[in-house]
Amino acid sequence: MRVAIIGTGYVGLVSGACFSEFGVEVICVDKDTDKISMLEAGRMPIYEPGLEELVEKNAHAGRLSFTTELVDAVGQADAVFIAVGTPSRRGDGHADLSYVYAAAEEIAGAIDGYTVVVTKSTVPVGTGREVERIIAEANPDAEFDVVSNPEFLREGSAIEDFMRPDRVVIGTKSERAQEVMRGLYRPLYLLETPIVFTSRQTSELIKYAANTFLATKITFINEIADLCEIVEADVHDVARGIGLDGRIGGKFLHAGPGYGGSCFPKDTLALVRTAEEVGSPLRIVETVVEINDKRKQRMAEKVIASCGGDVNGKTITVLGVTFKPNTDDMRDSPSLDIVAGLQAAGATIRAFDPEGMDEAREIMDDVIWCEDEYEAMTDADAVTIITEWNEFRALDLERAKSLLRAPVMIDLRNIYDPEEMAAAGFSYACIGRAPVAPADPSTK
Ligand code: UDX
Repeated sequence: MRVAIIGTGYVGLVSGACFSEFGVEVICVDKDTDKISMLEAGRMPIYEPGLEELVEKNAHAGRLSFTTELVDAVGQADAVFIAVGTPSRRGDGHADLSYVYAAAEEIAGAIDGYTVVVTKSTVPVGTGREVERIIAEANPDAEFDVVSNPEFLREGSAIEDFMRPDRVVIGTKSERAQEVMRGLYRPLYLLETPIVFTSRQTSELIKYAANTFLATKITFINEIADLCEIVEADVHDVARGIGLDGRIGGKFLHAGPGYGGSCFPKDTLALVRTAEEVGSPLRIVETVVEINDKRKQRMAEKVIASCGGDVNGKTITVLGVTFKPNTDDMRDSPSLDIVAGLQAAGATIRAFDPEGMDEAREIMDDVIWCEDEYEAMTDADAVTIITEWNEFRALDLERAKSLLRAPVMIDLRNIYDPEEMAAAGFSYACIGRAPVAPADPSTK
């Protein structure tokens, strides 16, 4: 079995590496010559745990290669995956499908023999039909089927998610295409991974419905956290208390500064637009989008309030700027709104992130980037944790206190215990848990 993957972004590269690990012969195609040279030299354009080793192993075994030549790669392939970006279109929030359609056009001219064209990119309902139309029009002799096969990979654990998924969704009614897809996912079949065969448009919708549901779940617990703060309840216990109900489930009930990343913000918005357009609005998701946007901005106010209501002229340490740990991805990260809000209020920002600083430097101005968490806390008036990197879970609190001008911590990921922080002498604010007054140093 031979596979060509068009687009070596996050999804394309991880899928390509994982398919080659399954024993499939994979060629990854990208127009970006620098990226292809980098990959050929064994260097990764993104940070994802385990990816470099997987690429190296399979490239070495001759099962994984990289090229800028789409025609050759597609000509030899049994299946061609479209894994190009579908960013939010500026202005209206619709998914921008220009890269997908351009790829379809190019694939059309290169198809040789029966080929399954698979959309892996997250695409709105109906895109598969359009891809099919483009290919048929550009190459009326082409023998092909267009299949939807969305990915459910989480950044930071993408390889594990690919190798041991909860399910695989395959959208096509063509038995011939189903056969090819079954062959590709055979190793998962053997692991008894559920495979959902359905229509193409249902498959396209499943991806959006899954992401918007998860974004809704997070937003729900975030609002419950706000309520907890007022009624002196503990959101951790609420999440556990409801999550143990099998109908609800405990995952994605971690309250925080609002969801970010390359998928949830873009996909929630795109689904809202699709639903609006066909006259079947999704009021819940519309509200989720609005609440989450406001929440990210509101987190800056929370930090300011914890600093006595004014940060003008103060220095604030920011620990973690990526939208989640184990990635260098800054897309729609809550840190962007929080840092901007603090700067607008007159604060100076000293920041550290284990992997995200190169990306962050490009898009965040006037931040003092530090070598590590302790340098970042030096002479600051407060520290806020925005991303729950493991590095920040066991800070030396005595050292932190001696570096900070005031022992103030705003933990937007709830990684510390309020009582322990109070005992350590910190004025500690978090999400959805009652504050505990810091221990009086004179009584120690
Ligand atoms: C998501 C989906 O999980 C994945 O299936 C899909 O294919 C792509 O989008 P990803 O964006 O990598 O994956 O990260 P995820 O772990 O889902 O987190 C998204 C955002 O939600 C992050 O900002 C994270 O901090 C936040 N989040 C997640 C919470 O605030 N609370 C939670 O309980 C879980």
